[in-house]
Amino acid sequence: MLRIAVLVSGGGTNLQAIIDRLEDGTIRNACIRLVLSNNKNAYALKRAEEHGIPAECLSPKDFDSRQQYNKALLKRLQEENVDLIVLAGFMVVIPPEIIHAFKNRIINIHPSLIPSFCGTGYYGLRVHEAALKKGVRVSGATVHFVDEGTDTGPIILQKAVGVRQDDTPEILQRRIMEEAEWQIMPKAIDLIARGKVHVENGRVRIEEEDE
Ligand code: GAR
Repeated sequence: MLRIAVLVSGGGTNLQAIIDRLEDGTIRNACIRLVLSNNKNAYALKRAEEHGIPAECLSPKDFDSRQQYNKALLKRLQEENVDLIVLAGFMVVIPPEIIHAFKNRIINIHPSLIPSFCGTGYYGLRVHEAALKKGVRVSGATVHFVDEGTDTGPIILQKAVGVRQDDTPEILQRRIMEEAEWQIMPKAIDLIARGKVHVENGRVRIEEEDE
């Protein structure tokens, strides 16, 4: 059974999608051991508690330095013997020591089709503002492994979503969540939990796609 930690900062709708797919059996062979937030007011923590999942806040504000925070975060994840770390709207940069300790075992959801509208400064609504400013006809979401760069790791799944002329950043964000994020994140976790995802030469190969 794959032991998952989900790291969150805000509303936690992606966390909710994961919980729902675990509860209805769509995600097989996995369980959430821990939900961790950097923000004590994150609604995601409540969602976890409502489903009986251990949830806690680990805030950088409670540590003297970022280095101490990073150390505590790594320790907490190792204590739970986590196999996979899922970044579901976690707005904290993952330090190299955690990336190395969990090589190809950290995944992130990003609300665009990487390599568009990603990297430093592109998070949350800003991604959709940039997409609308550019006038793209198609955007979407990407689940990828986390490496040392920002949004540069091997891509696991992507799903495209059409952009409409009258979209606002908020409307586009919501449609991308509903049509892409809440689907590809649980699907990626299920594939990983069943050992179907392999990283080869910096790219992802998914077994079931070959069958
Ligand atoms: C999601 O749209 C996710 O893709 C985005 O934050 C939102 C979190 O929503 N992540 C990023 O922008 C990462 N660069 P949620 O808390 O409701 O899941």
